[in-house]
Amino acid sequence: MTPVTLSRTHTKAISEVNGSMTENPFAPRTGLMVWMGNEIVPVDQAKISVFDHGILYGDGVFEGIRIYNGKIFKEAEHIKRFWESCKAIRLNIPMSSDDLSRAMHDTMRANGMTGDGYIRLIITRGVGALGISIRRTANPTVIIIVDKIALYPPEVYERGLHCMIASVSRNHPNTMNPRIKSLNYLNNVLAKAEAHEYGADEAIMLGVDGHVCECTGDNIFIVRNGELCTPGTWEGILEGITRGVVMELATKHDIPVRETSLVKHDLFIAEEVFVTGTAAEIVPITEINKTPVGDGKPGRITKMLMEDFVAYRNAQ
Ligand SMILES: Cc1ncc(COP(=O)(O)O)c(C=O)c1O
Repeated sequence: MTPVTLSRTHTKAISEVNGSMTENPFAPRTGLMVWMGNEIVPVDQAKISVFDHGILYGDGVFEGIRIYNGKIFKEAEHIKRFWESCKAIRLNIPMSSDDLSRAMHDTMRANGMTGDGYIRLIITRGVGALGISIRRTANPTVIIIVDKIALYPPEVYERGLHCMIASVSRNHPNTMNPRIKSLNYLNNVLAKAEAHEYGADEAIMLGVDGHVCECTGDNIFIVRNGELCTPGTWEGILEGITRGVVMELATKHDIPVRETSLVKHDLFIAEEVFVTGTAAEIVPITEINKTPVGDGKPGRITKMLMEDFVAYRNAQ
């Protein structure tokens, strides 16, 4: 059978008939260099097979890592979590942690990254037979993207996030434990879509038991009676690295910190609520289900931790 090839013009014509855009405004910028397997290639050559189990089944894991001032922030912690996620899904990383670190630095250099940026580290199970068996796969692929990220628009850091409580539950730890930073983020994708449909910036996700877990790409904290409370890992959350830094910073200020179970009511009566994450850093939440948190403005402790965090990361 003669293979059918769609030329670019052909694709364009079809797009025009459908009335959709021919250009993707979210396409990666030209000139970006990507670590692909074991070499650095231009982004348009960074391709994986349609038989890779990463795409067929979301079988793989990733990390999101910040670069501040040309230095990788909390590199050892991210590499450790990457190893732990891989161990949990029985995926052997085909390189040592030193080689992985070198690959990240090489990719930064290839992109002339000397300021602030972001690294997306990915490993896919590799090419395999159709069917989910990990025994019928080979050659996991490591991918490293070095670029910029902005999770929320700048004004959100001033006015605070407006959140809604999603109807979709966070994965129960006995299903796909959220401590594994897996390539399947559909759970979170659906919650975020729900938040946008509702007119909110972000979704707060509860577990199947109604306990507060986290947001779609961030951990959550509340302040009550001057104490910082955050859901424990048993609830089904990612054990966030920024979460750890915030707990450390609060302790330095003699603010008590407690990992505990929280329910919706705790969110509504909290003095302050905020989220933490690599991409987001620290962001106040000032509205939940259209109800103001505290007086509806970013709280004192949140603002202090935001300032502290900037000083902390600049000192690294
Ligand atoms: C679901 C989820 N929770 C929490 C976080 C925050 O974790 P970290 O501070 O390590 O970025 C992230 C981001 O990585 C995430 O995707």
